[in-house]
Amino acid sequence: KAFSDQLIIDAGQKHFGAVMCRSCGMIYTASNPEDEAQHIQYHQRFLEGLRYVGWKKERVVAEYLDGKIILILPEDPKYALKKVEEVRELVDNELGFQQATLSYPERSKTYMFVSNEKRIVGCLITESIKQAFRVLSEPTDQKNTENNHLLEHHRAWRCSTVPEEAICGISRIWVFSLLRRKQIASRMVDIVRKTFMYGTCLNKNEIAFSDPTPSGKLFASKYCET
Ligand code: ACO
Ligand code: ZN
Repeated sequence: KAFSDQLIIDAGQKHFGAVMCRSCGMIYTASNPEDEAQHIQYHQRFLEGLRYVGWKKERVVAEYLDGKIILILPEDPKYALKKVEEVRELVDNELGFQQATLSYPERSKTYMFVSNEKRIVGCLITESIKQAFRVLSEPTDQKNTENNHLLEHHRAWRCSTVPEEAICGISRIWVFSLLRRKQIASRMVDIVRKTFMYGTCLNKNEIAFSDPTPSGKLFASKYCET
């Protein structure tokens, strides 16, 4: 066995014979050679991409018991920007964004949550914006749950047609799958609000999430109302 750190999923047994790699989080069928080969490829790229060796001049914007948040700006050294690019590719891949480019790379800021094990386990990319359209909550019609379900998977939210003022757009937010629901995303957004504009702390309504995924929407609505 190439990887000894495999874990058999015992909950649900939806996919019989499925295993989840404890390092990269990929779920695959160990008995399927094609699947296994795909895992090995993904595993290496993933772990290499998220490895953080540490930089002499890093901008630490927050420190916690379980890690720290660093900020990378467009004017930073090439090696830092290269890492940002590498991580963004992995995140885009997971989000299903194909060859997505940032609208204004020279204005985007990247926040990365680095674990004590020196791995990048969270990433948040911001852009400056002037206005945003609020996502409207779907009417909770019991008969419509099937329909809502469909909507959720197509990311077709109803948006308000009235633009509202916003300052900071979150174009990407991602947390390593095995470390979700540990407030990593919340802490990253808290720090964005404190550091995005010098000398002020942004309100929750001055932050906008662009084109959220279903879990992004659940997170955003929870974060913004509390
Ligand atoms: N389902 C339901 N509620 C959720 C979910 C979820 N999947 N994720 C977060 N929440 C809510 C919960 O109320 C949670 O509090 P609780 O755990 O005490 O109940 C609260 O939001 C805070 O969650 P965090 O722990 O801070 O969020 P996390 O670190 O898990 O990261 C994220 C959330 C970034 C959405 C993560 O699930 C992820 O990376 N998903 C895959 C990538 C993705 O879809 N990103 C959003 C793309 S949209 C965009 O980039 C603009
Ligand atoms: Zn793996």
